[in-house]
Amino acid sequence: MFNTIAVEGAQFGDEGKGKITDYLAKKADIVVRFQGGNNAGHTVYHDGVKHALRALPSGIFTPKVINVIADGVVLNPQELIAEIDDNFPKGTKLTNLLISSRAHLILPYQIERDKMYEDMLKDKKIGTTKNGIGPTYSDKARRISLRVGDLLDKDYLKERLHNLAFFSNKELEANGYKTIDEEEVYENLLKYAEVLKPYISDTALYLNEKIIEGKKVIFEGAQGSLLDLDHGTYPYVTSSSPTSLSIPLNAGIAPNKISKVLAIMKAYMTRVGEGPMPSEVNNDFANIIREKAHEYGTVTHRPRRVGYLDLPILRYTCLLSGVSDIALTLFDVLREIEDLKVVVAYSYNGIETKNIPSNPKEYAQYKPIYKEFKTIPYYDTKKIKSFDDFPNEAKEYLNFIQKELGAPISIISLGPNPEDTLLLKELI
Ligand code: IMP
Repeated sequence: MFNTIAVEGAQFGDEGKGKITDYLAKKADIVVRFQGGNNAGHTVYHDGVKHALRALPSGIFTPKVINVIADGVVLNPQELIAEIDDNFPKGTKLTNLLISSRAHLILPYQIERDKMYEDMLKDKKIGTTKNGIGPTYSDKARRISLRVGDLLDKDYLKERLHNLAFFSNKELEANGYKTIDEEEVYENLLKYAEVLKPYISDTALYLNEKIIEGKKVIFEGAQGSLLDLDHGTYPYVTSSSPTSLSIPLNAGIAPNKISKVLAIMKAYMTRVGEGPMPSEVNNDFANIIREKAHEYGTVTHRPRRVGYLDLPILRYTCLLSGVSDIALTLFDVLREIEDLKVVVAYSYNGIETKNIPSNPKEYAQYKPIYKEFKTIPYYDTKKIKSFDDFPNEAKEYLNFIQKELGAPISIISLGPNPEDTLLLKELI
């Protein structure tokens, strides 16, 4: 058994993974981001200061923790440098960051094409964050994208860039979009290379060595299981796999090196972007939750769609990802909410089902079947030191969820700060 734990979102992203990872990171040696890019927005309150992280792993504020951006990430070098500058005093050279030479670079070509594809899809658009994520992963599969390691070899970098510019500009031009100046991108890449050079390394090798040594490693997923390219509500998904299933491939470690899987679940559902969400409601419940918990996108500031907690989705995540523990977040938000219920199954064409279909059009027609709960009365979150301190109505809700999902709720988050966290079981 290794000292490793995967942290993954069990819904549509924005479950509070950043907060939980930062909280666990204090006991860890290494935190690893293994997929996605700056489409993620991880809010972390550290030493009373609010930080919005995009590509940096959430352990970055704990100096003794080494933070790894692994092979499966797509990295915008300009944005990463800006993110470091925004979160640390100007000119800071981080001593606890490693970036895989095998991670792929997001360049202006992919960002422009992301916008272009969304425009062209019109009302069929995915609702992406327009950060170039999808086009970069497609270019990776087409073998025309650039990798972080290419920054270390000027001539090779030029060669690779020419290839990407050739295909991208042809496509942009053909569709009436402005082409991008290759020379300018090259000059900028040389500048980014100077800043990023000290961080670039073979992170797979590093991680394997450290895991075998017994170091405590957290794998931090971005987005959520239902946005998984393979297992989510395709095509309304992101272009990578946020589940624990993808960690071995994306970090370069064997599957048996992941010992625990912690699913982060919000106490209700939210989604940004398009795609089916059977539990979505536009009623007082949604409006109150949106304002109470400020459910607006960290990256895009779009109001999030809100719904009741959806157990078929959570069960699906637990099954696919081998979830061993649950962290329930934003549970304080449910205090005094009337009309509290959870989705226990769906009805489709008069038939009851608990499964998630692969066809998003079909899934959009699923009608929730609910179990109702008593309103959880107001309680002072600061007075909750153990499970027994919760009001009975809260305990009933929590017990129902853990029983239905077959995994213990090991962490309950009762506010944005690390001290508003109830740890019910040691995880790392
Ligand atoms: P992309 O990842 O920018 O290509 O966007 C694809 C879909 O994933 C869109 O519906 C986005 O709103 C959604 N998405 C991407 N990143 C996040 C995230 O960090 N939280 C929530 N939704 C996200």
